[in-house]
Amino acid sequence: MTPIERHQRIGMLQAQASTARNVRLLSLFEREPQRVHSFTLEAAGLCLDISRQRLSMAQRLALLDYAVAAGVPARRDALLAGAVVNPTEHRPAWHTALRAPAGAGQPAEVAECLQRMTRFAAAVRGGEWRGERGEVLSDVICVGIGGSHLGPQLASEALAAHAAGGPRLHFLSNVDPAAWQTLQAQLDPHRSLAIIASKSWRTLETARNMDAVVAWFEAAGISRPGLSRHLAGVTAAPALATASGIAAESLFPFWDWVGGRYSLWSAIGLPLMLAVGPAGFQSMLTGAHAMDRHFAQAPLGENAPVALALVAFWNRLLDPAATEVVAPYCEPLRRLPSYLQQLQMESNGKSVDETGHALDWHTAAVTWGAAGTDAQHSFFQALHQGTAAHPVEFVLALPDRPDPQRRDEALLANAIAQAQALMLGRSREAVEHALRAAGMSEAQAAQAASHRVHAGDRPSTTLLIGRLTPQTLGALIALYEHKTAVLAWLWGINPFDQWGVELGKQMAGPIETALRAAREGDAGAAGAIADPATRAWVERLGAALQADDLIRSAAAPRPGD
Ligand code: F6P
Repeated sequence: MTPIERHQRIGMLQAQASTARNVRLLSLFEREPQRVHSFTLEAAGLCLDISRQRLSMAQRLALLDYAVAAGVPARRDALLAGAVVNPTEHRPAWHTALRAPAGAGQPAEVAECLQRMTRFAAAVRGGEWRGERGEVLSDVICVGIGGSHLGPQLASEALAAHAAGGPRLHFLSNVDPAAWQTLQAQLDPHRSLAIIASKSWRTLETARNMDAVVAWFEAAGISRPGLSRHLAGVTAAPALATASGIAAESLFPFWDWVGGRYSLWSAIGLPLMLAVGPAGFQSMLTGAHAMDRHFAQAPLGENAPVALALVAFWNRLLDPAATEVVAPYCEPLRRLPSYLQQLQMESNGKSVDETGHALDWHTAAVTWGAAGTDAQHSFFQALHQGTAAHPVEFVLALPDRPDPQRRDEALLANAIAQAQALMLGRSREAVEHALRAAGMSEAQAAQAASHRVHAGDRPSTTLLIGRLTPQTLGALIALYEHKTAVLAWLWGINPFDQWGVELGKQMAGPIETALRAAREGDAGAAGAIADPATRAWVERLGAALQADDLIRSAAAPRPGD
């Protein structure tokens, strides 16, 4: 499809969306008796219900037709075949090869790395791989940021119940020294293994945090050669990792053709494998592969990633101001919103199409959310009665053990009640009737009612994953990965690059240099900074750091020393 054709097609869909904005959700159910059935999809053991979206069956067909015209099937096939689908970096985005079964499309280097990870994880878990002093490694410090952090953290928290026999995982991502201070206070260096995860091995936060962790090991008396027992590396830049002291036996590769935010399935998942064991990790790959198969084989109209993408695409046309809320009703999945923020917003936060032309339509919505039921007592008020309607994705899991207080039923009931309340709302008549029944006069009820009316008609999606297991988690994450890619193809953008992250990183270098000089008393330190606002901040912060120089005062002798 040419950019002009895309422009025309999206323009036509925009026109359709403008007629759909005021359609009542309930009227869709009335007009379409098959709606619940045909808007409920099964995929790799997951059940997806998009019936509460403001999308008629005819509009869905129009979107499917557009998806075909936009080349979604061919692009999907190219993605799964490992073709170059990331044109600005000339790379495949072949994360699906990482979860292909052995002997069925799994590249040899992937098989080899998985075997090494498996041996390493078994040795650490089994206590054969110990610290320099011979102590069992009970804690793993996972140093990495962005895609080298969010996936392993989501998955390790989600699968905590499956982690028997493995070390405890701790994540160190933020360059804020407070993050490491808090963490190090809980750890014993002789019982700790640090896994440094960085695709590029050039990320500032990870490099600085690695330095802090290495200094901590050394301060505890761990020798240079002994560090190899306490330090592992995961990277697509092995020469750089080797140069910074990672030993070959604890260095695990992945490859340029794996995008950072799609890298959980690679050696970036090593901490997870340590926590849940090689079999648990393999089950997660199996679940993700099942979703890959579904994505590859299910007709577009029954394809869950495609359905999620069409809904997100349609919602952007219906209301560009709306955000995308994710509410996992499953405490172990509480990190899902943060994970999806990176996956969806780093992938699809773009303003030009693949050929570099400015877009006439909105791309990635702001993704946010929190675990239910906590979220209900926080921001759900605005979702129900605020002036903007933000579509919500409810993610449900079945309980994995009986609960004597039957809180599992309360949890699930609350999830579907929220979806129901968002859709049905509560009319003024119903509110006034209830207030009068509770003893208010007609005048009192009329006065009080406005505050209790819920407009309703607020769309949502409900996704049931079954029990949360490594397998269903794998399928869930793969579902969202493919949704994100399809959405990008509908918009005509490249989901696999992230140039927007670079500019701020580049600017931080000279600013840090100027700040340091200002802190050390160089009055002209900020002079080379181009814009007045930034210059003023460097001067202000430099002066503040100089006046309150903790490092200097810590080094200076104190009374009584
Ligand atoms: O946030 C930008 C980014 O490049 C992500 O895409 C990536 O996951 C993260 O930084 C970390 O990069 P690296 O793994 O190279 O340290």
